[in-house]
Amino acid sequence: MYNRKDSYYKKAKQSGFRSRAAYKIIEINNKYKIIKKGDKVLDAGCAPGGWSQAVSSIVGNKGVIVGIDILDMPPLDISNFHFIKGDLLKNETLDKAKSICHEYDVVISDAAPNTTGNRLTDHVNSLELVTTVFNFTKKVLKSGGNFLFKLFDGEDREDFIKDLRNFFSKVKIIRPDATRKNSFEIYVVCQEFKKDG
Ligand SMILES: C[S@@+](CC[C@H](N)C(=O)[O-])C[C@H]1O[C@@H](n2cnc3c(N)ncnc32)[C@H](O)[C@@H]1O
Repeated sequence: MYNRKDSYYKKAKQSGFRSRAAYKIIEINNKYKIIKKGDKVLDAGCAPGGWSQAVSSIVGNKGVIVGIDILDMPPLDISNFHFIKGDLLKNETLDKAKSICHEYDVVISDAAPNTTGNRLTDHVNSLELVTTVFNFTKKVLKSGGNFLFKLFDGEDREDFIKDLRNFFSKVKIIRPDATRKNSFEIYVVCQEFKKDG
C-alpha cells in the first residue's frame, strides 16, 4: 500500500494508518457524513485495514465494523472489529456478514480487482465487482442507510448510476483529494437507501 512516498503516504505512516487510503474515507466522511457514532459498518475489501482503522475512530466503541477481504490481514487492535476472510462474489461471505449483524447502517467498498493496465478491462472488472457488492448491499443495508464504493471509471458507469438512483435519494460521484492525480478511480456516495427501490 505504501508504494508512493507522497504526502498522504507520509501522513499515514506517522499516524499509524495501514494505508494512505484512510485519508479518503476521512475526507469523504467529513464532507458527506455517511458514517456516525455508534454505526454498524460493513467494509468490503478491507485489507490492509486503513479504512477500518479510520472508521473505528468515527463509530467509537458502541459501533461495529465488519471487514471482508479475500486476502489475509494481520489482526487490527480494535475490539469491535470483526474480520471475515472471504470472496465478495460468494454467497457464503454474505451469510457470514449477516450472522454478525443482521442489518448495517453503512456499507463501504474500496474493493478493486487486480488491474491489467487496460482501462476498459479494468473498468469492466471493477463494475462487475461493484455490481455484486451492490446486490449484497441491498440485502444487508437498513432503510435510510448509506453506501460508498470505488469504481474504475469508464463508459458503462451511467447505466449503473441510473439504477442506483432508484434505490437511494442522493447519489454523487466524487474524486477525493487523496486520490492520486493519474488514477481513473472515482468514488460514489449513495445516501438514504430506499429498501423497495
Ligand atoms: C484498495 S484495497 C483496500 C484498501 C483498504 N480500504 C484500506 O484502506 O486498507 C482493495 C481490496 O479489495 C480486495 N478485494 C478485491 N476483490 C475482492 C473480492 N472478490 N472479495 C474480497 N475482497 C476483494 C483486495 O484483496 C484488496 O485488499
